[in-house]
Amino acid sequence: MPRIAYVNGRYVPHAHAMVHVEDRGYQFADAVYEVCEVARGYVIDMTRHLDRLDRSLGELRIAWPMQRSALTIVLREVIRRNGIVNGMVYLQVSRGVAPRDHVFPPATVKPAMVVTAKRIDPASAASRAASGVKIITVPESRWERVDIKTVGLLPNTLAKQKAKEKGAQEAWFVDPDGTVKEGGSTNAWIVSRDGRLVTRPADFGILRGITRATVMDVAGKLGLTVEERPFTVEEAMKAREAFITSATSLVMPVIEIDGAPVANGHPGTVSAALREAFFDVAEKTLA
Ligand code: PDD
Repeated sequence: MPRIAYVNGRYVPHAHAMVHVEDRGYQFADAVYEVCEVARGYVIDMTRHLDRLDRSLGELRIAWPMQRSALTIVLREVIRRNGIVNGMVYLQVSRGVAPRDHVFPPATVKPAMVVTAKRIDPASAASRAASGVKIITVPESRWERVDIKTVGLLPNTLAKQKAKEKGAQEAWFVDPDGTVKEGGSTNAWIVSRDGRLVTRPADFGILRGITRATVMDVAGKLGLTVEERPFTVEEAMKAREAFITSATSLVMPVIEIDGAPVANGHPGTVSAALREAFFDVAEKTLA
């Protein structure tokens, strides 16, 4: 089945899906995005993702490119045209196309929107979760408003590339005081020695992950206590378990940090239980 993308009102073959050279997303990273998981024919947590999109757009004062209900139709249409049952759908909205000038273009310039979808093999995701992932730590180098889901991801890409070159799958940004912010494309968690789930409060220092929010719901269902507080790299290394969350990795156990094993160096039971229960608890919108 040929891949199809949505580009500013048209469904086009993926190979011909182009944006203008003066798209402000391309020139200024003046754009926001969302990534939703697609699982077993459902879009997962669509309401939370679109609520966060609304917030990101509002923070940058970019107008909605279309009505919210129309946008859900486009998302589902891209999933349908690509025959995706398991995978992800990506949505990006920029401030639009205008002659290059740092200040905002006139209000007559319409936001630009693209949507793509990708298949992910659930079996390979499951086998990765069974073995766990390795992470490295990097000094925090991003702008301060990482709570907005913008496409300004250069520090994230550099950190994740460094992780890859060191044989790891994710990098955690660490503040000068030694506390963990989050990963390059995931939120960070530990299970403390006394069995509590610990994750940094979602203030301005991290992205308010949708998977993070739903994992809190899952934890409640499983009778687990969640403590929102910063934790250090040292505490994570001594924790009972560590894991990362995102729409594309769900709950992914961390087995190694900067080359040192977490606990016995194997995925733990708490992250496995959270991963197992996730689909049942999450919001499911038929794709
Ligand atoms: N990334 N933190 C960062 C910096 C992220 O980029 C992401 C998601 C998350 C987790 O958020 P959520 O649970 O809503 O996916 C946390 C997406 C998957 C991406 O950029 O591909």
